[in-house]
Amino acid sequence: HTGLFTYDSGFAATASCKSAITYIDGDEGVLLYRGYPIEQLADQSSFVEVAYLLMHGELPSKDELADFDHKIAHHTMMHEAFKNFLGGFRHDAHPMAMLVGMLGSMASFYHNDLDYDDPDERRLAAIRLIAKVPTIAAACYRYSVGWPLRYPRNNVEYVERFLRMMYEVPSEPLVLNPVAAKALDLLFILHADHEQNASTSTVRLVGSTGANPYVCVASGVAALWGPAHGGANEAVLKMLDEIGDAKNVQSAVDRAKDKESGFRLMGFGHRVYKNFDPRAKIIREMCHKVLDELGVDDPLLEVAMRLEEVALKDDYFVERKLYPNVDFYSGIIYKALKIPTDMFTVMFAIARTAGWVAHWLEQQTDPEFRIGRPRQIYTGARTRDYVGIDRR
Ligand code: SDX
Repeated sequence: HTGLFTYDSGFAATASCKSAITYIDGDEGVLLYRGYPIEQLADQSSFVEVAYLLMHGELPSKDELADFDHKIAHHTMMHEAFKNFLGGFRHDAHPMAMLVGMLGSMASFYHNDLDYDDPDERRLAAIRLIAKVPTIAAACYRYSVGWPLRYPRNNVEYVERFLRMMYEVPSEPLVLNPVAAKALDLLFILHADHEQNASTSTVRLVGSTGANPYVCVASGVAALWGPAHGGANEAVLKMLDEIGDAKNVQSAVDRAKDKESGFRLMGFGHRVYKNFDPRAKIIREMCHKVLDELGVDDPLLEVAMRLEEVALKDDYFVERKLYPNVDFYSGIIYKALKIPTDMFTVMFAIARTAGWVAHWLEQQTDPEFRIGRPRQIYTGARTRDYVGIDRR
């Protein structure tokens, strides 16, 4: 656990922590949540059940799942004063900018009312976040389109509750397509956790100082927004739009190989996977099924498939073990579900909140829990004497 990892670039890094939550084998393309293969969870579980598994370490019984689901449903509301924060944002603010701000301000409402030394109260803080992040996310979207906020309904399941908060308008009932709800639940499962990625490591580093879980998750949202991380799903759609047609794919691949261009194939490559990202395989298959069932014919899917085909035959990508990652196809499904492009990373954040809070909880019970303090390789000036300004 405290072994030395050496990345392909030769840069050695030590393990940042011990964790029993998620296991990744980057060479074999293996991803386990608490020992369960992602393929089986994607096929048989639900996001709420996976959130329970990540937090508690075991799959829930029927009663445990019902109790967990009930607790989440009854913590989805936000303090009414919370709406005042939204009014301070520009209408065209990026939803991730609003989400990080709103989540940070959650600490001003809830921070002092729980005893984080009590395991049950820590779990309650975690449930609050899993429950309220969709409410906040939907509120950010509705504010950006000028719609009145929609309150959460407790009598529907997690994903339907979110979709209703996103799209239900007073003037007419929302007819939900079960295919859309199932597809979003599956995407949430696939994005729920991923070991010590940049945003989860950020949550753990902030958590290691004893900061409250709300600002820990807010820091995770901030880290996730970067296009090298969770922001990639939005960047992939923009890239596919820019390529526009399968006939332009080869030139895009050639451009991505030219370092001077500064252009990268978004959705390709991974810090750990040097084989296929198992989530990308599942999402690729989902793309065809969901678009067929929704009757959506999106030419960008053909562009994406052609891009994958050309890149995976190109020595530059093969030598560097650059494969499609979780972000490569997910945007095509979000688009088919009519999720706006600038909400794609917000979707990622909703799902990853389950992993972030599981890691925060795990950290609190780690006997070796200490403040994180990464070191550095110093490359600056050697010791030297001060020179007065008249002699500079
Ligand atoms: C996520 O860590 C996680 O677990 C993250 C995540 C999660 O679930 O939390 O899986 C989610 O963030 C997935 C990654 C999404 N990001 C993107 O799709 C952005 C595009 N990808 C790259 O920026 C890059 O591949 C990274 C950031 C994902 C990984 O970076 P690495 O492993 O540090 O790769 P690198 O920058 O060291 O590149 C190695 C080589 C370089 O060329 P050389 O210097 O060896 O000649 O590969 C090249 C890079 O230039 N390269 C690419 C490329 N990615 C790497 N060239 C073209 N296109 C790309 N996408």
